[in-house]
Amino acid sequence: MTRLIFLGPPGSGKGTQAKTLADGWRIPHISTGDILRQALKEQTPLGVEAQSYMDRGELVPDKLVEDMVAERLSHPDTNSGWLLDGFPRTVNQASFLEQLLDKLAHRGVKVINLEVPDDVVVERLLERGRKDDTEEVIRRRLEVYRNETAPLINYYSDRLILLKVNGNQSQEEVTDEIKKVIAS
Ligand code: AP5
Repeated sequence: MTRLIFLGPPGSGKGTQAKTLADGWRIPHISTGDILRQALKEQTPLGVEAQSYMDRGELVPDKLVEDMVAERLSHPDTNSGWLLDGFPRTVNQASFLEQLLDKLAHRGVKVINLEVPDDVVVERLLERGRKDDTEEVIRRRLEVYRNETAPLINYYSDRLILLKVNGNQSQEEVTDEIKKVIAS
């Protein structure tokens, strides 16, 4: 049963890797960024509330994202495993997730930390050009990552479930390294 959380700065390849592996393993790829962008497109109350945070590269309030993840992970299609991309992003979200997974009896979770230098992620994101991929918003997203999300590296390391992967190599090489570290 594969249950993986993808951690890493913006542009480190969380979405790319999670999607490739989820397709291959036929398990759900749960991306909080994708769910929020879909809500925005459909102009649901969640999307409307999240928009200004996303446009500025700030985190959407924990409660909104936690409710969204709780609902998604409670769906029966997650019984065969899942890949979580973009959540948790704060220590509060991580502790919420721990309790939720306990309640759902989802065990054996591992965390993949994709390591990529800042200059490489900035270059990748500028090339991609999503709405929040302007230089100013990318810098803010990186700052938020350093302040709010990077502490999760120690959080998961202390729980002995963190696996480091070099994200600064070809997409195929990253995929192979992920498969290798989770098998070892
Ligand atoms: P989100 O969508 O999660 O954005 P992000 O974390 O900034 O991550 P990205 O999607 O930019 O990067 P990625 O690591 O997935 O890389 P990707 O595979 O796309 O979140 C967006 C916003 O939503 C947040 O700012 C926040 O406002 C809100 N939000 C989401 N989750 C939240 C939460 N939990 N709490 C609060 N707010 C939340 O790759 C990037 C590019 O690089 C692509 O063009 C790709 O083709 C390329 N690439 C990938 N791998 C490689 C490689 N190995 N070599 C070369 N290029 C590569």
